[in-house]
Amino acid sequence: MRHFVTLNDITTEEFLHILELAKNIKREFKQGMPSAPLAGKVLAMIFEKPSLRTRVSFEAGMFQLGGLAMSLGEEIGFGKRETAKDIAQVLSSMADIIMFRALAHKSITDLAQYSTSPVINGLSDTEHPCQALSDMMTIGEIFGQFQGLKLAWVGDANNVAASLLQASAKLGMKMSVAAPKQFQFDSAQLEQIVGTSRTPGFEVELTDDPAKAVRDAHVVYTDVWVSMGQESEEASRKEIFAPYQVNGELFSAARSDAVFLHCLPARRGLEVTDAVIDSPQSQVVLQAENRLHAQKGLLVWLLQ
Ligand code: CP
Ligand code: NVA
Repeated sequence: MRHFVTLNDITTEEFLHILELAKNIKREFKQGMPSAPLAGKVLAMIFEKPSLRTRVSFEAGMFQLGGLAMSLGEEIGFGKRETAKDIAQVLSSMADIIMFRALAHKSITDLAQYSTSPVINGLSDTEHPCQALSDMMTIGEIFGQFQGLKLAWVGDANNVAASLLQASAKLGMKMSVAAPKQFQFDSAQLEQIVGTSRTPGFEVELTDDPAKAVRDAHVVYTDVWVSMGQESEEASRKEIFAPYQVNGELFSAARSDAVFLHCLPARRGLEVTDAVIDSPQSQVVLQAENRLHAQKGLLVWLLQ
């Protein structure tokens, strides 16, 4: 029994295997081939934060694979109404797999510690492994390779950036992170995020210069400046991050065949302009769609 709390829970070989599974599942699904490998299986999802993509992709994915997904909200009172241990034992007695979108990463590790069903991290304050898994499916579809590619992250060095760093390390991509100094990863964090699993080709650059990060980049990626849970910092963050907007001028400094990615939801006019997110080089909708297919690969891998 395996958990997927962080990308560091899987090896490079397992990462590539899940992507391969996802690719086949996507192809068969597009061809209308019926397949119910998860018939009779139940996914319990806990959401302590809002969601569109994560909720719909897991729920639709389980249904299409023959199983059932159910959504639980804050009313379960994780750690307040009941302990993580009691919730984990009860849920794993009825659900074959659990997905948790938590305010605090520790809640997910606590759940995983006591759960006898696999636990998937559906976003925490520090990581978003399902997003990075799906994004690597998208990047693989577009470029057909990982080694030799450069991903430029522009904005807050946040949960999505951390998971993309882990994915880059595992798949041998270069990643440049441009963030204001006080919102950048420090070397201790970097060490802790990336760990020991580094595939040849992986390089990381930390800078506060967005133009430097996007130079020669195949992928330009940004995310909101104010993540869920940070709403009280909105005013100061908007001011500090203003020079990190991905607009036409910044995007044109990347490779001419570069793609724009954003995990969504986006705050248009802040971290990205309409001109960039609506341009032909933007792949944000494919990226969102691939949450469905990549997570189906993950569910099948964890449950079979
Ligand atoms: N990208 C992502 O996780 O979207 P949601 O917050 O809508 O699930
Ligand atoms: N960094 C964002 C990602 C949302 C999918 C957040 O945590 O709110």
